[in-house]
Amino acid sequence: MLNGKKVLFIITGGIAAYKSLELVRKLKEKGAEVIPVMTKAAENFVTPMSVSALAQEKVYNKLFDLTDEAEMGHIELSRSADLIVVVPASADFIAKTATGQANDLASTIILATDTKVLMAPAMNVRMWKNPLTQKNIKTLDENGIKFVGPNEGEMACGEFGFGRMAEADEILKEIEVYFSDKKLKGLHFVVTSGPTREPIDPVRFISNRSSGLQGGAIANKLVEYGAEVTFITGPVNLDPPHGANVISVETADEMYSAVHSSLPADAAVFTAAVADWKIKKTEQQKLKKQTGNLPAFNLTENKDILASVSKMKKNRPKIVVGFAAETENILENAKSKLMKKGCDFIVVNDVSLGTQTMGGIENTAIIVSDNEVETLPTMSKRALAEILVKKISRSLEEMDA
Ligand SMILES: Cc1cc2nc3c(=O)[nH]c(=O)nc-3n(C[C@H](O)[C@H](O)[C@H](O)COP(=O)(O)O)c2cc1C
Repeated sequence: MLNGKKVLFIITGGIAAYKSLELVRKLKEKGAEVIPVMTKAAENFVTPMSVSALAQEKVYNKLFDLTDEAEMGHIELSRSADLIVVVPASADFIAKTATGQANDLASTIILATDTKVLMAPAMNVRMWKNPLTQKNIKTLDENGIKFVGPNEGEMACGEFGFGRMAEADEILKEIEVYFSDKKLKGLHFVVTSGPTREPIDPVRFISNRSSGLQGGAIANKLVEYGAEVTFITGPVNLDPPHGANVISVETADEMYSAVHSSLPADAAVFTAAVADWKIKKTEQQKLKKQTGNLPAFNLTENKDILASVSKMKKNRPKIVVGFAAETENILENAKSKLMKKGCDFIVVNDVSLGTQTMGGIENTAIIVSDNEVETLPTMSKRALAEILVKKISRSLEEMDA
C-alpha cells in the first residue's frame, strides 16, 4: 500500500496522457496522495477537470498564479512530495528538463526539486530514436532521473516500435518498488562490465566492441534496489554507476584478480566481454613495421572468470549470471555454456552483424537457466537490466524462503 505517500503527478503533452488517468486512479486506490500538475499542452489531451476529479485535488498548471503561489508556491510544490512522476513525459518536456529550462510550472518543479523523479517517456518511434532525444535521456539519467519504459509496440500514430508508454500497472509497480523497503538491501553484488584490452606491445592491444552500457544499467538497477555493488569495469567511455564501488581494470587478468578479491558476494553478474585470448609474450618496446616481414602473435587463453566463480567450492555466490555474445546457434550455444561454466543463468545476446547489440542502446536477449528459457523481445538495455535484476531478486527470495 502507498498510504501516506505523496506523489506529485506531472502530465505533459502526449497522446498517452489518457493513460495517466488510469494511473492516478490506481495510485488513489493504493492510498497515495496525488497532487496533479499539468503543462499547457497536456490540457489538449486530458482535461484538468477529469484529472482533478480522479486525484481529488486541485490541478496546478500555472507558474505565475498569485493564489497558488501564496497557498503552495512552486518551490514548495517541488519539495513537498515523496516522489515526482512525469506521465507521460513528452520529447519536448524531456528536452526542456535536460537543458535545465524552467519556463512553465512543470519544468520549474523538476529543476527546483531535490525529490526523486520518475519519467515515463511516450512518443513516436522516430522521436524516441532521434539522437537528440537519446542525448537528453542520457543527460537526465546521469542526473539521477529514473525512467520506466518506453516499450516496444503499436503506437497511436499507427507506427510500431519503441516509444509506447509503459502501461499504468508497470509504472505503478515501479512506484511501489521505490517506496518498498529496498529489496536487495544488505546484499553484495559483483558486476563486471565493458571489454578488456590485451596488450600486444606498449601501444597496441586486442579488444572488442563492448560499450559497457548493459553492465552499467544492471549496476544502476542493483543500486536502486538497495544492493551494495562492486562494479569492475574494463575501459569504457561511460560515467560509472552512481553509488557503486568502482574498480577500473584493463586486462582479463586484472579483471580476474579484481573479481576474486571482491568476493564473497551474494550474487555475481558477469556482463563484461572478457577477451578469450591474450598475447603469450607482450613486447616491451613498440613493434617496428618491417616491410615484407609480418609479426606472428602467439596467443594463450585467458583465465575463465565465469567458470572460476561458478565452480567455487567454498563461498560461491548464491547466484552467478553469465552473459554470452553469440552470432549463430544462439540457444544451443547458451545451453551448452550454462552447463560448461556451471552458472545459474546465461543471458545470451545475438551480436551478429546488423543487430547493433554491441555498442548500441538496445539488446535482444534470451535468459537461459536449468529449467527455463525466456525469450525476450528487443528492448533497451535499461529495460533488460530491470527484468534481470527482478529475476535475480526473486531467485534469492526463493532460496531464502
Ligand atoms: C495529436 C498530437 C499528439 C502528440 N503526441 C505526442 C507524443 O505522444 N509524444 C510527444 O513527445 N509529443 C507529442 N506531441 C507533440 C507535443 O504535444 C508538443 O511537442 C508539445 O509542445 C509538448 O509540450 P509539453 O512540453 O508540455 O509536453 C503530439 C502533438 C499532437 C498534435
